[in-house]
Amino acid sequence: MSAPSAPPILDFAPFYGADSEAKSQLIDEVRNCCHYNGFFQITGHRVPLDLQRRVMDCSRRFFDLPLEEKLQIDKNHNSFNRGYELLRSQMLEVGTGPELKEGLYIGEEIPEDHPYYLEKKLNSGPNQWPQTVLDKDEFQKTTMEYYHAVFELAKDVLGVLAQTLGVETSFFEPLTDGAVATMRYLHYPAQPQDTDEKLNRGIGAHTDFGCITLLLQDEVDGLQVLDAPTGQWLDVKPVPGAYVVNLGNLFMRMANDKYKSNTHRVINKSGRERYSIPFFFSGNPDYVCECLPNCRDEGEAAKYGPITVQDMVTASYKESYGRAESYKKEMESTKQERIAAASAAPAAPAVAAIGA
Ligand code: OGA
Ligand code: NI
Repeated sequence: MSAPSAPPILDFAPFYGADSEAKSQLIDEVRNCCHYNGFFQITGHRVPLDLQRRVMDCSRRFFDLPLEEKLQIDKNHNSFNRGYELLRSQMLEVGTGPELKEGLYIGEEIPEDHPYYLEKKLNSGPNQWPQTVLDKDEFQKTTMEYYHAVFELAKDVLGVLAQTLGVETSFFEPLTDGAVATMRYLHYPAQPQDTDEKLNRGIGAHTDFGCITLLLQDEVDGLQVLDAPTGQWLDVKPVPGAYVVNLGNLFMRMANDKYKSNTHRVINKSGRERYSIPFFFSGNPDYVCECLPNCRDEGEAAKYGPITVQDMVTASYKESYGRAESYKKEMESTKQERIAAASAAPAAPAVAAIGA
């Protein structure tokens, strides 16, 4: 490809249809995107628009709660990455300020007697539900209904990815059976129009860790993908009902770096509140990631040895935490200060990682 181009909008419907020509065109387009920067948008999927609207409404209802209520389910209270993450608590990009977003981490409901909980598998435990959110039962029900709908879509996207590699649609079943995936409700408050672009990030430049990410954005823009050859940032325009799909580091590794996990960021310059819901599909924690079929030429070696999903994603976390250590030393702060910072000036980061 020549000139930098923003992620294309692909109609996913042929995957479900009988038109084999349309299907193979979809597969070709997805393959091109994977080689280019690993980003594309899809419409024509099976997640109902009405469910998307209801889940966005849940997200707004949650973030509308008073801070004390949200902090009741602070994600720092548990070790399995569920619950609320305070504004300005993450910092992914060196040289930028604490990030202007708050989040709620949600996953499959894993009770404390579940083997994944007992064996401390990746992000596995009970969800931390807000107790005072408006229409609490509907909130939980809609959230999980949406989670499962996107989980199914992620499996379908992996089916297409398998086909881009010339293997059966079912190739990734051992990866998707018992898979761990994490969803985040995200809220980016309106940044002042004149905020210094160098310093303020909704999310700093990063790549995602897992296999694939499926992102639902509301109508407010802000997501940008780096065009590595030119250094240009390309806007990923919100398209009503569409998912932004991108490959994560785990998939890039399995594809022997032939497919890309690309750098992206969010700067909310719209002057409006922005809401988005990324869904990070990691995979079955025990699945052994090895070089995928048709990802190397004859005689070309696999660049990476086998590693489980659990070890790969855990290692990414550790690396990201390591990077954050210097910041932490520079800016030690108490939790009280962090809380105060949520409504005032920037404070110390407690860095976490993306793509659970
Ligand atoms: C992420 C991410 C983009 C967005 O959470 O990893 O890149 O638009 N989010 O919220
Ligand atoms: Ni991301």
